[in-house]
Amino acid sequence: MSASKKTAIITGANAGIGFQAALKLAEKDTRILMACRSVEKAKQARRDLLAQVPGAEVEILPLDVSELSSIKEFVARFSEQVETLDILINNAGIVTPNLSRNSQGYELHLATNYLGAFALTGMLLPYFRKGSPTRIVNVCSLAHRFGKFDFDDPNWNNTTYNNWKAYARSKIATAGFTMELNRRLQQSGSNVIALSAHPGFAATDMGRKTGATTPKTAFAQWYQGKMEAWIVAKPEQAAEPIIYAASAEGIGGGDYYGPTGLFEIKGKTGKARLNPLARDIDFGKRLWAISESLTGARYLSDL
Ligand SMILES: NC(=O)c1ccc[n+]([C@@H]2O[C@H](COP(=O)([O-])OP(=O)(O)OC[C@H]3O[C@@H](n4cnc5c(N)ncnc54)[C@H](OP(=O)(O)O)[C@@H]3O)[C@@H](O)[C@H]2O)c1
Repeated sequence: MSASKKTAIITGANAGIGFQAALKLAEKDTRILMACRSVEKAKQARRDLLAQVPGAEVEILPLDVSELSSIKEFVARFSEQVETLDILINNAGIVTPNLSRNSQGYELHLATNYLGAFALTGMLLPYFRKGSPTRIVNVCSLAHRFGKFDFDDPNWNNTTYNNWKAYARSKIATAGFTMELNRRLQQSGSNVIALSAHPGFAATDMGRKTGATTPKTAFAQWYQGKMEAWIVAKPEQAAEPIIYAASAEGIGGGDYYGPTGLFEIKGKTGKARLNPLARDIDFGKRLWAISESLTGARYLSDL
């Protein structure tokens, strides 16, 4: 591998937006590490990618981002195989209708969409290439704008569970984490920047495979069958803000990108609307503290 070639880790790169990001970055001559929980699915995705970008450097490293033990194993394997990292895209995500938990008892939206990204980022930070611009892109969602973070009960142990509120919670955490991470990176004098992007609404399998978006009424069935494809973006279009955040020149830490069409559902990539809570310094500090405590991953602390 040439030393000048960039290396990107993309979590959940076997499907949907993560796959499109892998494809487009491979086209830009970036070495791709697909961090996926299903090696079989990742192998098929790798074949599909290579069919479109012959000669691309694409490797698979197993990762279940909802489990801390898997994150530790992933980072250990990564550090044996690769010297430096230029881009980390924390993309893996779920939406699921039922209350589910990881092996530590953490609610699964929080564990997968947020806590895993927090821990993975901290463990990978020492491997970012020194002396050149490098970046961490966290994949957010329009849902973050409605998200509330309950510091007393982040894992829905004592609160009536609602899956969409849980999803939104994981995404306001993602947004707040990105801003706080970028502040801490700046304060530490790091050359790494952190920013986020959201895809709008995309016709991926995310809600379908868990049944979270299975239509319950005749109208919803008609909408999903006929209207959805017309209203929402295809995965390749939805991935554009994420690819832009990961690869465009001249963008800054703390930026937030998304589609600029009606309600940010789809359209040309530009700056997107961030929930002001995500920029709140007290929120960021509290979120950092609780994330360190829940994951045991301590980094950029005492800043
Ligand atoms: N689609 C939308 O409208 C939309 C809107 C806003 C935000 N987003 C965000 O965009 C990101 C990508 O979603 P998508 O729409 O592309 O969904 P998708 O097609 O379902 O892709 C999600 C990816 O994440 C992986 N993943 C899930 N849990 C994982 C785990 N525990 N460990 C490792 N990988 C895991 C999935 O693996 P498997 O294939 O094994 O399940 C898949 O590769 C998510 O963060 C999502 O919240 C999507």
